Amino acid sequence: MEHQSQTILTGVKPTGTLHIGNYVGAVKPAIEFANNVNENDNHIMFVADYHAVNAIKNAPLLNQLTKEIACAYLACGLNPEKSLFYKQSDIPELFELTTILMAYTPKGFMNKAHAYKAAVDKNTARNEPADAGINMGLYTYPVLMAADILAYDTDIVPVGKDQVQHVEIAADIAGSINALYEQNVLKIPKASLSETAQILPGTDGQKMSKSYNNVIPLFGTDAELKKAVMGIKTDCQDINDKKNPDDILLYHIAKGIAPDCVVQEIEAGLKNGGMGYGTIKKMLLQVLIDELAEKREKYMYYMSHFDEVEHMLARGATKARQLATPVLNRVKDVIFNR
Ligand code: ADP
Ligand code: TRP
Repeated sequence: MEHQSQTILTGVKPTGTLHIGNYVGAVKPAIEFANNVNENDNHIMFVADYHAVNAIKNAPLLNQLTKEIACAYLACGLNPEKSLFYKQSDIPELFELTTILMAYTPKGFMNKAHAYKAAVDKNTARNEPADAGINMGLYTYPVLMAADILAYDTDIVPVGKDQVQHVEIAADIAGSINALYEQNVLKIPKASLSETAQILPGTDGQKMSKSYNNVIPLFGTDAELKKAVMGIKTDCQDINDKKNPDDILLYHIAKGIAPDCVVQEIEAGLKNGGMGYGTIKKMLLQVLIDELAEKREKYMYYMSHFDEVEHMLARGATKARQLATPVLNRVKDVIFNR
């Protein structure tokens, strides 16, 4: 049976300099997915820079982070010939569609959206007023995200658990527009839950996160990588003690990034005793250098030749607008009875 062409879309928010937790949990799986889509399928990958504006008001920083994320995806193997790659802010059709969708979005949906609820919970925990520091961009975040998705007649949105609800909101908004006008105005998208990539712990044992100051940078120099790896917390058991690998932070980090043979060697060294933490750190550092050196070089190249990246993004934006314009017009024709 011939495979019907599908549109698959993913957005990435430029909100922080990438660390290896982002790499194993988001960047690597997204690129593997992109490079394995069916020949007939359309794959879209975009930098969600307007979503980042909700949180980042420092313009040079936002500019830098947007650059970094675009270069990182290219350096890690995203192929702009295969995937439509652009910046959200270059597609004005998305913002017109957002305005339209607003009129069909029950306010109650927004009250229940995870990103907003998480911000309210944070405020409540700090004894602050519920809506302190929350702007309308964050509150209505799922509507812009719905426009990101619906503008291309997207079929599938591969996402992590935390984003499934946002895709369901997009499907609900599209569904209610279709029901109201009794026709298929917008394609109903589906979330595809990416296999739960494991959470990589940071150098202190908590989840690796830019917020915890416990990261191993994705594109650090060898010296920076070394500093971060050597700083991974260890206990003071004797080198010859037989240890349970599951109790050892270094082992958990290795499991997230090292090839199976290295993980097995570390596992055996810990179980049998005799392998010191310093040795494991050296092995881990070598794994990181092997995995990242070439990507880092490409990343540095793109960062210092950003005009080339801008050119790719601009070409992507032109194509994306060509896809979004007829969808937007289709919606306007229906709602204004043109
Ligand atoms: P951070 O926790 O550093 O603020 P973000 O929340 O911006 O990172 O996450 C960006 C992406 O990277 C998300 O898809 C998230 O699931 C993934 N990610 C972040 N930290 C980790 C981690 N420690 N292990 C696995 N994936 C992670
Ligand atoms: N909200 C997503 C995140 O925080 C990013 C995003 C924006 C997105 N628009 C999207 C993801 C559309 C998928 C589809 O990670």
